[in-house]
Amino acid sequence: MSPETYVLLRHAHRTFATLSILGFVARWLGVMAMQHWTQGRIAKSLPHVVDTLLLLSALAMAWGAGFTPENAPWMTAKIVLLLVYIGLGVVALRPTQPPRRRMVAGIAGILVFAHIVAIAFTKQPLGLFARWS
Ligand code: HEM
Repeated sequence: MSPETYVLLRHAHRTFATLSILGFVARWLGVMAMQHWTQGRIAKSLPHVVDTLLLLSALAMAWGAGFTPENAPWMTAKIVLLLVYIGLGVVALRPTQPPRRRMVAGIAGILVFAHIVAIAFTKQPLGLFARWS
């Protein structure tokens, strides 16, 4: 893969990550405030499109740079935490869940997302906590 393509993919990946957390927070606040738009078709399907593009851009970069779970354990950590983030989103954004549980899941989702970003920049599975290990 050419360096230009890699840089382009990284820009796309960053953009999808930004769209993902903005959408998560907007929908979470909307669900907490019982707003109707959060149950619309676009609000429900767009996040799947964004998260799929986020993952595809990540896998394309990993393939292009030759990252594997063996030589880049931080990447495995990101994949696992991405699944945790998606799972927390399911709970946080479901109106049938009790409000307290939605609140806790939403906060946990934001914290997990922040940790994924820290891993992205430090290339350490422990992210910002790596300095204390
Ligand atoms: C919510 C999920 C994710 C977020 C918020 C996220 C965030 C980021 C950010 C901000 C960067 C840019 C770092 C920099 O500019 O140095 C990045 C790079 C990258 N991410 Fe992710 N990412 C996520 C998921 C994933 C997953 C699941 C994978 C693995 C399949 C992955 C693989 C990569 C790779 C290979 C890079 C490029 C590393 C480099 O060249 O420095 N990301 N990610």
